[in-house]
Amino acid sequence: MIHNLFSHYLIDWNRNKNNRKMPWKGVKDPYKIWLSEIILQQTRVDQGLKYYENFIITFPTIHDLAKADEKKVFKLWEGLGYYSRCKNLIHTARVLSSTQNGQFPATYEDILKLKGIGPYTAAAIASFAFDLPHAVIDGNVFRVLARIFGIREPVDTTAGKKIITELAEKLLDKEHPGEYNQAIMDFGATVCKPANPDCEQCPFKSNCVAYKEDIVALLPVKIKR
Ligand code: ADE
Repeated sequence: MIHNLFSHYLIDWNRNKNNRKMPWKGVKDPYKIWLSEIILQQTRVDQGLKYYENFIITFPTIHDLAKADEKKVFKLWEGLGYYSRCKNLIHTARVLSSTQNGQFPATYEDILKLKGIGPYTAAAIASFAFDLPHAVIDGNVFRVLARIFGIREPVDTTAGKKIITELAEKLLDKEHPGEYNQAIMDFGATVCKPANPDCEQCPFKSNCVAYKEDIVALLPVKIKR
């Protein structure tokens, strides 16, 4: 499929068919985006919702989180597991509070330097909060692109990751990077699902290599387990 057609179909799906509602959608505050993305790194959306809301109410700004008693923060995190996420949140909030007046840096490179923030989270914050053209690349994106573009290379190898990463960066709608990134995540979560994907309702049906070749269930290929 022609690359800008992909983005066109995806944005069209997002505006007309995507009915996924989540409290961080459309949010521009990098602090809230950061918090939601850290929670969602290892936690499902339905479980993470309550934690996100509680955090935002208890600590509405980076300064509030930075000056909070650690015990209180860990208490709010209780049940989510992976406590290094919480530790890094506190650490980074304190750094931003004391050196950047509680503001997030506004470039991808500077966001990526923060403790606990990897390429995925940096791209999410850069695109959602600052409209910067960085593609989010996670399991959803790997699956969607491997299927639609018929990528048979295992996605858990260096070569496979490189192919998908380069493709994802080409496909990104540079005019609407935040909308595009949220749309591809929502599309992967609700249509191009890991199991039982909804191919009949899929806007890429007639363009999807995996669908046309009847190998949807076989993609993405993974060699490790
Ligand atoms: N998983 C990680 N980030 C997400 C987001 N912004 N929306 C939905 N699911 C996600």
